[in-house]
Amino acid sequence: MSSNNPIGVFDSGVGGLSVLREIRVQMPNENIIYFGDQVHVPYGPRPMEQIQNFSEGITKFLLKHNSKIIVVACNTASAAALKYLRETFPDVQFVGMEPAVKPAAEKTQTGKVGVLATPATFQGALYASVVERFANGVELFQNTCTGLVGQIEKGALDSPETRAILESALLPMLEKNIDTVVLGCTHYPFVIPLIEEIAGKNVRVIDPAPAVAKQVKRLLEAGGLLSQRAEEGQFRFMTSGEADSVRVSLNLLLGIDGEIETVTWMDDLIIR
Ligand code: DGL
Repeated sequence: MSSNNPIGVFDSGVGGLSVLREIRVQMPNENIIYFGDQVHVPYGPRPMEQIQNFSEGITKFLLKHNSKIIVVACNTASAAALKYLRETFPDVQFVGMEPAVKPAAEKTQTGKVGVLATPATFQGALYASVVERFANGVELFQNTCTGLVGQIEKGALDSPETRAILESALLPMLEKNIDTVVLGCTHYPFVIPLIEEIAGKNVRVIDPAPAVAKQVKRLLEAGGLLSQRAEEGQFRFMTSGEADSVRVSLNLLLGIDGEIETVTWMDDLIIR
């Protein structure tokens, strides 16, 4: 394994870009290969087993492209498949997402915290274990924000529909006096301005991306795999969906005008 190999990052769609953004801030010299499974987005309402199959196929694809570490930049795929991926690929290092209940429980003053995530994330054993280990008597209010991932995929970061979804999720929690909101889906950081507008500045919004990027860096450093490249790293974006719509999102979300490569699922494998 060479330190020049890329970091592999995947999500059901553009959500993982909120994690990629932080990886680029903390490790600007790394090459990154990003896979967005736009043909299957959203993952949230799908059965766990199907999400596992997708995650396994994407992992094989990212390994074929020599990824030195794989970042499961999707809470839903982490909830459904991270354990399975670690068992199936014991030699591969994975970094996954888990809802940031721990920092939220440590910081809340009112003892009430909102958690926004997809149905699969709330159903998985990972969420139950995070709550059991870290909630520490803090009251959690959950909402699945139905339709929000789709709005963000199409770049509707401030549309009336997006606002309505967020209001119906947040207003009942705000009435219960939450002072902290955990973003348990990597798509949601892209609507933080709208969340702050609805919830007000006194409500803390927790985006776990900086902590996840830090963990990636720590693991690479420990394995002697941090890039020694002096110049800025390259970024490849691959999608199983439509290049044109992804290009627009990439520009809107990260201000990047990049080449988008399209790939196709063939049964359980991804081919180019
Ligand atoms: N970004 C994913 C997550 O973090 C997307 C969810 C979905 O595809 O439903 O959960």
